[in-house]
Amino acid sequence: MKVLFVAPELPPYAKVGGLGDVVCALSKALRNLGIDARVFCPLYGGIFPSEDWQPHPSPLHICLGTTSSYGRLWETNHIETGVPVAFLEYNQYFERDGIYGPPDGGHSFGDNGERFTFFSRASIDYCHHINWLPNVIHCHDWTTGLLPSLLDADSLRTGWNPATVFTLHNMEHQGVFGVDVAEFAGINFIAQEPAPYLNFLSEGITRASALTTVSPTYAKEIQYAPGGCGLESLLKSRSKDLKGILNGIDLEAWDPFSDPSLPKRFSADDQAGKTFVKTTLQEEMNLPSGSDFPLFGVVSRFYSQKGLDLLAECLPKLLSKDPKAQFVILGSGDPAQEDTFQSLAKVYTSQVAVVTRFDERLARCIYGGSDFFIMPSRFEPCGLGQLYAMRYGSIPIARRTGGLVDTIKPIHKDSGTGILFDEPTSGALFDSLELALGLYNSSDLFQSIRKNAMSENFGWDISAGEYRSLYQKLTEAQP
Ligand code: ADP
Ligand code: GLC
Repeated sequence: MKVLFVAPELPPYAKVGGLGDVVCALSKALRNLGIDARVFCPLYGGIFPSEDWQPHPSPLHICLGTTSSYGRLWETNHIETGVPVAFLEYNQYFERDGIYGPPDGGHSFGDNGERFTFFSRASIDYCHHINWLPNVIHCHDWTTGLLPSLLDADSLRTGWNPATVFTLHNMEHQGVFGVDVAEFAGINFIAQEPAPYLNFLSEGITRASALTTVSPTYAKEIQYAPGGCGLESLLKSRSKDLKGILNGIDLEAWDPFSDPSLPKRFSADDQAGKTFVKTTLQEEMNLPSGSDFPLFGVVSRFYSQKGLDLLAECLPKLLSKDPKAQFVILGSGDPAQEDTFQSLAKVYTSQVAVVTRFDERLARCIYGGSDFFIMPSRFEPCGLGQLYAMRYGSIPIARRTGGLVDTIKPIHKDSGTGILFDEPTSGALFDSLELALGLYNSSDLFQSIRKNAMSENFGWDISAGEYRSLYQKLTEAQP
């Protein structure tokens, strides 16, 4: 079984959020199951081919509509997982900094429609070029939404007709463009009223052989408003072909017992090192250190989805009520939200520390050093932050939505792994933060819950098996 992942993110080379982590870890897990999984990704500015990368000897010819161009292919094995990866070099579209938009997070690139159409088309040309024709092409999110249509056109010409799996990581980002992009792509498309818009996500949903999303609860939510973000009826019409498969995490790459980013290692059975990680984090963030201070962590994109405005709203009240509570917040995105948190850090210097950049090492130290991890998401397709947090002994406080429901067990007596709340309001979050403070003060109970969280198994084994079964079913059904 041969499967090509076509994806806009692949850490550590290119990452904005959890999609990249899934592409990386799932491709590895599939190879462990004997599937020849490979990844196709753009060579963005800032990714520099190293000596062991192989430039493909001949240029890649990419034909789109009436245009014809040449790109360059770089082949290598993923630096951490060993999975074969091909990077597409095409400077006009990808050499700049940023994946979907400039790194300041304010807006998207104006030519994203062309960029990702080109990328999708190039992935098909790549398979022909190296004469490796996978049974399945696995597309991820809106950037690859046109791939099934482009493939249909290609199949008529070449006879190669792989199945397509389209994984919906997030319904909010759909890739909506004008008809010029459809002309550029050379496809017939389904016009979206009122204007003839081309919607990449709905194209992919309509044409892919099978649809998956990243948790069972989100699979249900997106078939209704507001979860489907306007595409609920379309999703409902494909309900039979839609499956929620819960994301996992790479247990080797995310292990507090071997993580080189942490100043000390620890595990569920030996938590002494966690105290040291917490103290080091407090010192690094210029906060008073020690176990007297309950430490809440955030690692997130700053985006309305994540509900961090609710945190900003209730923070002053909580900080005044409990002068020992501390917050370390790492995030970037919405410039207004960055300013809000930075202003709070200036007022509450001994209680709030804020870092507004993408920082993988610090993220891991926050998972490892915090006592609680906050995710007040308005919606959350799966969420990986809470999984990393639990593995690193930080108890999640999250809204009862999407994958957060499927991965966090509410605390009951000494069972459970986290605190869930219902309403997307600052009041409901405030109540949960207070509950957490109470839990922190009941030391034995707090330790039990932390141990429960750390003992959960969020590995990919079961979910990768579900993807394998899906691929098998699809290839058996192929003519
Ligand atoms: P989403 O994909 O919606 O952003 P997830 O919880 O699935 O949410 O994944 C977020 C991923 O991005 C996690 O790996 C998290 O650690 C990482 N991340 C988010 N913001 C930052 C940041 N500022 N610095 C480092 N890592 C970050
Ligand atoms: C998206 C979702 C997040 C999910 C991630 C990986 O970015 O917002 O919930 O965990 O994709 O699937």
